[in-house]
Amino acid sequence: MSDNTAAWIDSPYADLTIREAPRPTPGPGQLLIAVRAVAVNPLDAIIQSNGTVMYGWLRYPVILGEDVAGVVVETGADVVGFSIGDRVVAYAIGLEKGRDAVTESGFQTYVAVDASLAAALPDAMPFEDAAVLPLALSTAAAGLFEEDQLALDHSRLGQSAPRDEVVVVWGGATAVGGNAIQLARAAGYRVITTASPRNHERMRELGAEAAFDYRDPRAVERIVGAVNGSPVAGILAVAVGSAEPCREIARLTGAGRIAMASPPVSFYEQPRRPGLSLQRIRLFLRLGTRTALMQVRSRIRGIRPSFIWGSAIAGSAVGPAVWGAYLPAALAAGSHRPYPEARVVGEGLPAIQGAVDTLRGGVSAEKLVVTLPAPADS
Ligand SMILES: NC(=O)c1ccc[n+]([C@@H]2O[C@H](COP(=O)([O-])OP(=O)(O)OC[C@H]3O[C@@H](n4cnc5c(N)ncnc54)[C@H](OP(=O)(O)O)[C@@H]3O)[C@@H](O)[C@H]2O)c1
Repeated sequence: MSDNTAAWIDSPYADLTIREAPRPTPGPGQLLIAVRAVAVNPLDAIIQSNGTVMYGWLRYPVILGEDVAGVVVETGADVVGFSIGDRVVAYAIGLEKGRDAVTESGFQTYVAVDASLAAALPDAMPFEDAAVLPLALSTAAAGLFEEDQLALDHSRLGQSAPRDEVVVVWGGATAVGGNAIQLARAAGYRVITTASPRNHERMRELGAEAAFDYRDPRAVERIVGAVNGSPVAGILAVAVGSAEPCREIARLTGAGRIAMASPPVSFYEQPRRPGLSLQRIRLFLRLGTRTALMQVRSRIRGIRPSFIWGSAIAGSAVGPAVWGAYLPAALAAGSHRPYPEARVVGEGLPAIQGAVDTLRGGVSAEKLVVTLPAPADS
């Protein structure tokens, strides 16, 4: 009998089911973590709502979950810099192609994570606060720093001298956006962002020099005014519907690249069941049309739009630069804040399905978190 328990998704569209899971064995470069807090991401809701249409390589039953914080209970043979008993936050990448969506996914008592995608936590930082970071931080880092995205300079992250170049982050109040503001600032760039007015002060606290309401029909014009002729190093487009206004900002400021975190249509608006409904056909038609139009209309103006894949950092120099060289020190110094604020919506694996359902209703500048009780060996 295993001492591990997981929230399984047994088949496409199914509710999460709580039952025993194998206790993962960490690979040579991995940590085994006793998970104490998980956060839910749009990705978890999107996979559950869209079956094999998304992440078609998954072979069910699988386990979802990317964001974990907890205690190291085993270390792989090649791991340096972590010890049993360390409190860490980590990005679980089991859902990615070529990885194991059972042992390396987050919604379980024990998970195997790459040590290169884990960071030690300051003693005073609760697990639930830290759990908001992994996927959002990694996606922001991929969008800002990967060579095929905005390719910003991350060589002196956390110690960069201020630069005159601006980065526009559309959707600064999203989990991805709030981390992007902090990372871009840590790399020395000036940041201009959008958010609902109630979140503007928060955006400035994170490091944005100006924030505008994305619902304002004159938002693009106001952003271009705030740029005021400075060079724009790149534009990060977060949230459904952000790509088009970002293309307009690029056209008006001369920015050459847009990195897009979100698809052009919402995958939440689907009925959670298999089969080709009219709604699903319409969604895919809109997805294809808007993607093609975005590419064509950008390219003819010399703008390069690209879609971000957050896990890209696992195989590039960006992962170690952000998770290894930057994050632990920045968390300890308080210069990178866990964003968004954690809203703990329950304790124990059975609470995760409710958290995913609540997320489908939308959140504002907060992340839904579930805490897990400590197993005996942590
Ligand atoms: N490509 C990848 O690898 C990857 C990875 C992670 C996430 N994503 C995608 O990135 C997006 C954000 O994910 P998340 O977890 O960061 O989201 P989130 O924190 O759940 O986003 C909630 C926030 O979205 C903001 N928002 C809603 N509509 C907006 C709009 N039209 N323009 C600007 N902001 C808007 C709201 O801001 P206010 O409260 O200020 O209104 C709200 O605070 C999602 O589309 C997600 O699917 C992609």
